[in-house]
Amino acid sequence: MNLRKISSFFLIYLFGFYSQTAKSQFCGCSPILCCSQYGYCGSSNGYCGTGCQSGPCRTNKEPPVVDMIVTQDFFDRIINKTGNGCAGKRFYTRDSFINAANTFSNFANSVTRREIATMFAHFTHETEDFCYIEEVNGSSLDYCDENNRQYPCAPGKKYYGRGPFLLSWNYNYGACGQSLGLDLLRNPELVGSNPTVAFRTAMWFWMNSVRLVLNQGFGATIKAINGMECNGGNPGAVNARIKYYRDYCGQFDVDPGVNMTC
Ligand SMILES: *[C@@H]1O[C@H](CO)[C@@H](O)[C@H](O)[C@H]1NC(C)=O
Ligand SMILES: *[C@@H]1O[C@H](CO)[C@@H](O)[C@H](O)[C@H]1NC(C)=O
Repeated sequence: MNLRKISSFFLIYLFGFYSQTAKSQFCGCSPILCCSQYGYCGSSNGYCGTGCQSGPCRTNKEPPVVDMIVTQDFFDRIINKTGNGCAGKRFYTRDSFINAANTFSNFANSVTRREIATMFAHFTHETEDFCYIEEVNGSSLDYCDENNRQYPCAPGKKYYGRGPFLLSWNYNYGACGQSLGLDLLRNPELVGSNPTVAFRTAMWFWMNSVRLVLNQGFGATIKAINGMECNGGNPGAVNARIKYYRDYCGQFDVDPGVNMTC
């Protein structure tokens, strides 16, 4: 009477066993090679560095620094300020930021609290506490520079501001997509529909245009993001960014430094 029960138990047991084996075989590297985060064997940093699963990994098993700084509480204190009517409230998550940041291992392992305070000050200013995913009324504009032959606009696609740093124009979608390995010229909507992609586009901009000026003070980062606000262009916006920055530096207990304005 119990035979059927027993055999189905064994089936489940065997299935579990095989699926585990299949997983580890994806990384059946020789003992001198590392199993990368994606399950491939090799010996360079791409395999033995961040995310290395087994073999002679060069990383200790500590989580990347970014995980420890951007806690769920830190993220929630920001996004909880936005109203329920905000599209961004059901879109942006702490995990999507962490996942995006971890695709830039240089960043994830070396970021400081002050850099996170800087970055989130700009995110929250640009999106109003993660309320907006896209530029307000952006869909009425296509932001297509037809003279740009390197990154031609795809038919019917619009390149208005999307994501935390409002990625805009075909040439930026093109260059960013190329760097991230995503066809953002043909699928610009991805930036507004996948939160990890949204944060990755912001990270791309950060790594290429903002990180280099971090040591010049917060003001230099405003200039890198929206230089038109500087030199009296929009003191309200500059002050709003600085206010966020001071708040986050306070939460992290770090000195905001000098040259905060621009
Ligand atoms: C944010 O809101 C959620 C849901 O209402 C709540 O559970 C959480 O405690 C809040 N967190 C913070 C830091 O305000
Ligand atoms: C967006 O469009 C609506 C309707 O056309 C208009 O009322 C509103 O002022 C616009 N908002 C901005 C920020 O341009």
